[in-house]
Amino acid sequence: MSDESQMIGERVRLELGDAIAGMRALPNSSFDLAIADPPYGASTRGRWRLDREHTLPGFGGGWQMAAHSWDRLGGVAGFELTLAWLCELKRLVKPTGSLWIHATYHNSGIVNVACQILGLEIINEVVWFKRNAFPNLSARRLTASHETILWAHTGGDRREYYFNYAEVKAREFPEDALKTPGKQLRTVWDIPNNKTRAERKFGGHPTQKPLRLTQRMLLISARPGGRLLVPFAGSGTELVAGLLHGMDCVGFEIDPDYAQAARQRIQSVLKDL
Ligand SMILES: C[S@@+](CC[C@H](N)C(=O)[O-])C[C@H]1O[C@@H](n2cnc3c(N)ncnc32)[C@H](O)[C@@H]1O
Repeated sequence: MSDESQMIGERVRLELGDAIAGMRALPNSSFDLAIADPPYGASTRGRWRLDREHTLPGFGGGWQMAAHSWDRLGGVAGFELTLAWLCELKRLVKPTGSLWIHATYHNSGIVNVACQILGLEIINEVVWFKRNAFPNLSARRLTASHETILWAHTGGDRREYYFNYAEVKAREFPEDALKTPGKQLRTVWDIPNNKTRAERKFGGHPTQKPLRLTQRMLLISARPGGRLLVPFAGSGTELVAGLLHGMDCVGFEIDPDYAQAARQRIQSVLKDL
């Protein structure tokens, strides 16, 4: 695919293909920020028997289990893969910039260790509290109602990364019971996992993030006019947020259907800009 045909408008480039291979072709220190929402390894090959006998009172039915081939990841191979894409992020993001990495308990330990091995200093570990989390269908575990997000930087001891401290402190997030305007933002973010109709219009992605979650990351760490790298684009949430923040964005997505949905979503946002 030619470089031009990967462009969506003038500010977003979405490449269909493997992120690691794609990133290897990009020059050092060419981005101000990266947001990685990688495969978590949360999917299972196990066959779930969720028939009429398996009910949770009050929770209806028709469940879709997490079973996506791109999300099967584990063991040494999963660790090596994590190191490989994190290595590229380290090479590509300037010391004045930073990285955000989504995780759940399936991969958060791996991502944390990989950051430490690579010398990526973790600035904060954020807990994204999902107060409307999906119930646990097996009734054999607690309801998983948070994800972890690491905020890290590439600049070592000099700590030159951008932090929009004053504006973040002053900001009100009406849905977040833990944030008071004028008080410092904590590392627990109370952001419901709801997506608007516009966010889902071009097809629901099974692990699509709410736009406002990404927008908060950008408010904290991104200057308009900067360059955003999104290695695992999915439905395009991070690319849309970057575009709305006035950034130039480069993304990768390996699945043609998701890439197409993301492309349509970005085109629709561009029409309204
Ligand atoms: C967790 S999802 C990202 C969801 C995204 N944050 C959103 O809001 O829609 C991860 C995505 O990475 C894609 N993916 C998996 N392995 C990849 C690879 N090696 N290169 C590029 N994309 C990949 C999957 O197809 C999936 O859409």
